[in-house]
Amino acid sequence: MKSNTLDIAINHACKLLKNGDLVVIPTETVYGLAADATNDQAVTKIYELKNRPSFNPLIMHVADTYQAEKWAHFSPLAYMLAETFWNSNYHHRPLTLVLNRKKDTSLSHLAMAGLDTVAVRVPNHPIPLKLLKRFQKPLAAPSANRSNHISPTSTEAVKESFGTRTPFMLDGGVCSVGLESTIIDLTTDEPVLLRPGGTTKEEIEKVIGVSLKISTSSSCIKAPGMLKRHYAPVHPLRLNVVDPLDGEVLLGFGPQSPSDATLNLSETGDLREAAANLFHMLRILDQSTSKGIAVMPIPNHGLGLAINDRLKRAASLE
Ligand code: TXA
Ligand code: MG
Repeated sequence: MKSNTLDIAINHACKLLKNGDLVVIPTETVYGLAADATNDQAVTKIYELKNRPSFNPLIMHVADTYQAEKWAHFSPLAYMLAETFWNSNYHHRPLTLVLNRKKDTSLSHLAMAGLDTVAVRVPNHPIPLKLLKRFQKPLAAPSANRSNHISPTSTEAVKESFGTRTPFMLDGGVCSVGLESTIIDLTTDEPVLLRPGGTTKEEIEKVIGVSLKISTSSSCIKAPGMLKRHYAPVHPLRLNVVDPLDGEVLLGFGPQSPSDATLNLSETGDLREAAANLFHMLRILDQSTSKGIAVMPIPNHGLGLAINDRLKRAASLE
């Protein structure tokens, strides 16, 4: 978008948000469905449109740490992570921090599902950053898809989810990371990884100097969105497949992928490229007339942890 056109679009988005309406925003991870996080009625529209259970809280998006300090307690560790990963001059990565919230808050309790904690992140994308600076309030924004479906990495994918009910969209092109933010809980004695995502466990451990505990999904009532079955494709999904069955399409990975693989997440075996392609390719394969989708093994380190997490949820029948 040209800068003048973008300015007009951002002004329009601001007006809609002030009016209590929803706006679709790009981020570096996936597209978000944003509402004024201080407006209960606006937040209700998110839950309705997504068909999301009201016990599942939303992430607050802010322009900087300063905007979040008004209603969230930052421990020294939280400051350290924010300074490292929310800093566009340094190492900006998709990281959501779950923090204790201050008692006195203007945030919608509905958006926080009534919890005493709040999830917050600074997106690394010029469009939402500009919007947040102009709007001057936090934006509650889940991924812009119907609940339990694959997150959208383009405006086309958002339209597939919401059709004629799609709110006004700010188009920021294809999302560069392609997987949702990593979520860590800083409200317990030790930091806990609630959701692997676009920032790797290794990157976080380098900063905090200790190994990060991984939350076991069943005990993880803290992030109810992390249900076992999530990101549901229509076709059955089989993982770690080397020989696909007759009638299955194959999602390959790496140079060892057979030449008849329908799509390849990354021909060179680059996990960053694979993460960026994952949701888009799953959508394409899900629209095929095949019997099922077979996925080749993906190494379980770096971004592979988040890729395998999403694939497992998409394959789960529970
Ligand atoms: O990359 C992302 O994080 C994207 C973009 C749009 O920012 N957003 C996103 O939001 O993935 P959503 O709503 O699809 O996933 C947010 C997850 C949910 O699993 C929710 O349960 C969890 O964050 N969550 C929100 N508040 C929480 C809290 N206070 N404690 C624990 N988990 C929380
Ligand atoms: Mg989501």
